[in-house]
Amino acid sequence: MAAFWVSLWVVAAVTVTSANCLEVKFTHSAYLDAAHEKYFLQWRYDADTITFRVEVATLGYVGFGISPNGDMTGSDIVTGLVTDQGDTFFYDRYATAKDTPTMDASQDWTLEASGENGTHTFLQFSRSLVLCDDTDRTIKAGTSRVIWAYHEEDPRHDTELMYHGGTRGARSLMLLSVPQDIKLPENVQSIYLLNTYNVLKRETIYWYRGFKVPDLGGKRHIVAFEPVVQAGSEGMVHHMDLYACLEDLDADLYDGAQHARHSHDYPRDWISCKITLVAWEVGGEGFHYPKNVGISIGGPGDPNFILMQTHYNNPQRKTGMVDRSGFRLLYTSDLREHDMGFMQLGVDIASQIIPPGSQAFLMAGTCYPDCLEKAMEEESIEKINVVGVHFHAHLAGRKMRMRHVRNGVELPWLGSDENFDFNFQQTVRLQREVEVLKGDYLILECTYNTEDRRETTLGGFSTHDEMCLGHILHYPNMKLRRCKSNPHRVAYLAALGATGFTFRGAKHDFVPTSPPRLAGKSIKKLLNHYVTWNEKLKQKFQEVQRTGNTSVICMKTNSSLEEYRQQRVIMREPPPVILHPYGETDVCKTPGMGAKGTKMHKGLKKHINYKANAENKSGRKKGPWWKNRKNHRKLNLSPWQHHSGARKTGW
Ligand SMILES: *[C@@H]1O[C@H](CO)[C@@H](O)[C@H](O)[C@H]1NC(C)=O
Ligand SMILES: *[C@@H]1O[C@H](CO)[C@@H](O)[C@H](O)[C@H]1NC(C)=O
Ligand SMILES: *[C@@H]1O[C@H](CO)[C@@H](O)[C@H](O)[C@H]1NC(C)=O
Ligand SMILES: *[C@@H]1O[C@H](CO)[C@@H](O)[C@H](O)[C@H]1NC(C)=O
Repeated sequence: MAAFWVSLWVVAAVTVTSANCLEVKFTHSAYLDAAHEKYFLQWRYDADTITFRVEVATLGYVGFGISPNGDMTGSDIVTGLVTDQGDTFFYDRYATAKDTPTMDASQDWTLEASGENGTHTFLQFSRSLVLCDDTDRTIKAGTSRVIWAYHEEDPRHDTELMYHGGTRGARSLMLLSVPQDIKLPENVQSIYLLNTYNVLKRETIYWYRGFKVPDLGGKRHIVAFEPVVQAGSEGMVHHMDLYACLEDLDADLYDGAQHARHSHDYPRDWISCKITLVAWEVGGEGFHYPKNVGISIGGPGDPNFILMQTHYNNPQRKTGMVDRSGFRLLYTSDLREHDMGFMQLGVDIASQIIPPGSQAFLMAGTCYPDCLEKAMEEESIEKINVVGVHFHAHLAGRKMRMRHVRNGVELPWLGSDENFDFNFQQTVRLQREVEVLKGDYLILECTYNTEDRRETTLGGFSTHDEMCLGHILHYPNMKLRRCKSNPHRVAYLAALGATGFTFRGAKHDFVPTSPPRLAGKSIKKLLNHYVTWNEKLKQKFQEVQRTGNTSVICMKTNSSLEEYRQQRVIMREPPPVILHPYGETDVCKTPGMGAKGTKMHKGLKKHINYKANAENKSGRKKGPWWKNRKNHRKLNLSPWQHHSGARKTGW
């Protein structure tokens, strides 16, 4: 089919490419419009270039862009249109405001194919990932915000654009994500784990449902999961996680039981269900584990009970409906090479304190080698292989990065998202498996923006509270499931001016004993009533993240809940200073790398061509194309190439 989609006339900034170039196999696709019917995007990438194809339900112009934040300002935009005559006009633009984007001096996108088929316009175009100029955004791993727009009609002049009105939008995508192995084994079977939640009139609720793991006839491997979000609940189901429990509990008793967090009847046993197996957040898709790994289920030592946590976010306080969202787990008896583990890194929510009015406040949680190394020793392994990562933060989260340090030297990041989107939290497959050895440090960094907040942001479960979590998907599986650290409570108290401390067992927390004005007051109380945030204090709190003493959470599947609680009390040394930080080399600034030189040169040439072609074009047609309707050329063959010229009147 793809070969049909050839436009005969490609003018302006572009050259016609050969047909085999068009038979591109796209590895990724997504609808950009919420209804999933008007604007379809496909793409693929290699080391240097990304190629997009948009198919849009319009015969007018189409816009597509890469945005810094979802808005137009600062976006790298292309606009394209196919005239009734089959001419394509395609331009590289840049938006300096929420206004018609201006034409780029350097035309850096290449149109590869275009056409119309009577109902839809398609454009296929490509660009270098890195362009090194101020009007084209570098495309990086992590979340990209793409923006889109279209109009029912073509403009009257090729460089003009009418306002697109409401037919526009933005979407987060991981443009450079690794394509998943979506081919499933033939004998794959499903387990559905679904809620029956009578929607309550509450803005935030954490709903829990227990499931006894059915008898699967022996050890099986879960090879993929899919979120099952009930139609109509899309705006409400914010995240869903599956947990196994530290302590053995009565699976028959709790099969099908459901409770809200903190409700009086919430089973005490469930508090030990802290081992994350699967995590999904709004905007994410299902995930197919790489071909060599699966999550073990049904075998000896595997959980017999799974607790599903669903975070419902219901600001409109809708009620009177039943939600049956949950998960579909796909499993097989064809066991894969390795059992996969899912380990949580980051910061304990009880220790998150983010000052208000911060542009970029950084929190960091470290997985110390003594925890990781000991866990490996217990399993008699020398290393783990990481195959994927998954970040989780709430509304104030802006950037996430998982750093990896060996002997004081930082290795490439396991994951980095400079454009974290709360509404789009995906499990990310690594480009290549990464080995983590005994002695390595893993550090999760989360950066928050609280410029619009007046109150301190604490760790917690509401989307207005924060989290700083990163999971690694690894093999072989280990008993270790949480390897985190956070500033010790005493380090925070010291930053607030306390000079003496005592531990209050009943409160599981430290309180100051001196100076007298702070004595006996909890951190929360101090923050709420006795502290005014100023730049100096914010700076102190930021320092605590890097240089403060810590407490460490090192939790295994056979840890006791008591052990876990005690770990919070023990004071540990600050995280290590990284002697040689890893930095992405900025190709644009590297002399002789040619990135800037070559690209600009090419761009410049194209720019000249574009002008020449434009002159040639008007010469050829004796006037602007829209007045040239009598010269209507019959274009042949493809349903895409031609549509009836009788479409528009009254030009
Ligand atoms: C044009 O192409 C789109 C996308 O492939 C398709 O959905 C539509 O039915 C086609 N229209 C016609 C008239 O062939
Ligand atoms: C951090 O720990 C060291 C050694 O345990 C201790 O001497 C120091 O006072 C601690 N700092 C704070 C701020 O608690
Ligand atoms: C957990 O299991 C490991 C290895 O089997 C063992 O060495 C360790 O003592 C166990 N821990 C507890 C708390 O039972
Ligand atoms: C117009 O196009 C022709 C062939 O397509 C080319 O040779 C010529 O240089 C172009 N004219 C200008 C002014 O560039």
